[in-house]
Amino acid sequence: MTITVYVPCDSGALCLGADKVASKIVEEAKNRNIDINLIRNGSRGLFWLEPLVEVSTDKGRIAYGPVQPHDVVSLFDADFLTAGTHPLALGLTDEIPYLKQQERLTFARVGITDPASLGDYLAHDGYRGLKNALALSGANIVKHVTDSGLRGRGGAAFPTGIKWNTVLNTASEQKYIICNADEGDSGTYSDRMIMEGDPFVLIEGMTIAGIAVGATQGYIYLRCEYPHSHKALNASISKAYEAGYLGDSILGSGKKFDLEVRLGAGAYICGEETSLMESLEGKRGLVRFKPPLPAISGLFGKPTVVNNVISLASVPIILDKGGEYYKNFGMGRSRGTLPIQLAGNLKQPGLIELAFGVTLRELLYDFGGGSASGRPIKAVQVGGPLGAYLPESQFDTLVDYEAFAAIWAVLGHGGIVAFDDTVDMAEMARYSMEFCKIESCGKCTPCRIGSTRGMEVIEDIIKGHDLNKNIPLLRDLCNTLLNGSLCALGGMTPYPVLSALNHFPADFGIADQADAA
Ligand SMILES: Cc1cc2nc3c(=O)[nH]c(=O)nc-3n(C[C@H](O)[C@H](O)[C@H](O)COP(=O)(O)O)c2cc1C
Ligand code: SF4
Repeated sequence: MTITVYVPCDSGALCLGADKVASKIVEEAKNRNIDINLIRNGSRGLFWLEPLVEVSTDKGRIAYGPVQPHDVVSLFDADFLTAGTHPLALGLTDEIPYLKQQERLTFARVGITDPASLGDYLAHDGYRGLKNALALSGANIVKHVTDSGLRGRGGAAFPTGIKWNTVLNTASEQKYIICNADEGDSGTYSDRMIMEGDPFVLIEGMTIAGIAVGATQGYIYLRCEYPHSHKALNASISKAYEAGYLGDSILGSGKKFDLEVRLGAGAYICGEETSLMESLEGKRGLVRFKPPLPAISGLFGKPTVVNNVISLASVPIILDKGGEYYKNFGMGRSRGTLPIQLAGNLKQPGLIELAFGVTLRELLYDFGGGSASGRPIKAVQVGGPLGAYLPESQFDTLVDYEAFAAIWAVLGHGGIVAFDDTVDMAEMARYSMEFCKIESCGKCTPCRIGSTRGMEVIEDIIKGHDLNKNIPLLRDLCNTLLNGSLCALGGMTPYPVLSALNHFPADFGIADQADAA
């Protein structure tokens, strides 16, 4: 009997030696005349256990990890192919609490299927959403998305249904779907995990979007730092064309949708949707004025849907199970699930997909296991480099767009980076200004010049120079950035800067909050 063994091909697992582990397993099986079927699956997202090797048994999949090449002989000696006991044995994969407590809708197949196999995708409910969509009018597809309550997962949380409706109702002989796969936020990797672990779900989501709004061309704008995603997407796009899921007449419906991947050159600002379109048009990534909205005049001046990877990858399940099904997860105006990414100083970093409504504390301690250093967690930055720093007193905040807005913070793309008590928050504030300075596209003055001046002011504060003058000056500058910037790069840099100053005044040489005012 052939035994199936899974070793992830996700970049995270590859960095930790997954390829060498896979080769060693094949070699050892051959030496022992054992017939195995090796599948390179996506990562389950439990990074401290990678490379996570799984074996298919009649009781379910059994996990071992983290496995290094030198562990492989002992795994065979321990009969791991029949769930033998071994120091690295973790039991049934589905029973690992970190996984068991999740609610995986968008990530339902990631880690389970062979991401390169269209057959496996179809066998696990793949393309059911597209088949339903092909039987609906564009307006009815958009209605499902609107009913689901899905809001953009790229950062701004704009309702996806409203965006699609604008493109649907804007007459044009050509419309476009762009998938924003620039994933520039610190501590985020959910886009990458989808593209490497279940690329067909993104292709299906984009195809549904195209059919819904009447767009016949799609582009995935992918950051060049993701070579494995690039390979996985291109291979899956070819397979989708061969099987009739892309092209001139999708599944014989007469509806056309073409798709290709374009690589970005690595500027953070090219994740901003209008710079992204400039870059796609072959120009320097410079932010455009809005209006006009991209939904009305976007790529090459045509109506364009720009959505994040996770937004688009959430569409197939909405069209498969209905908008109401998706909407039943979550709280308030934050509907559905969010793939949260834990990073930084944590024992158990990884991907956690959960309905909105979990607390930060649960994520950091129940899932994350507390700091890796064993020291108290002093601050977390949520939502990438433009997100606020939150102190321990705010760890009971619910993961919900409105709850975060109420404490002057953002959820962004769902990345959480933890810092222990050795972090210097004044230095982090200085770094935020430096980041803005380095990544500024230069189009507007508050950001182009303000970020450099902001860095200088914080450097003066760190040196203890004239705090009575420099603290109000920093606040005044942040106010100008907040209100006078053309886009959120300059407009949100005050979030990390002021949250650091307000919550951690001692790090700025100030006795308390009153002095920080
Ligand atoms: C400086 C900056 C960087 C951004 N980077 C990204 C990014 O890497 N990925 C992304 O999806 N959205 C990013 N966005 C948000 C996009 O402009 C846009 O809101 C998003 O792609 C829309 O998709 P959604 O509605 O599905 O979230 C960025 C915005 C700004 C201001
Ligand atoms: S805020 Fe910065 S990045 Fe945004 S348009 Fe202005 S200069 Fe460019």
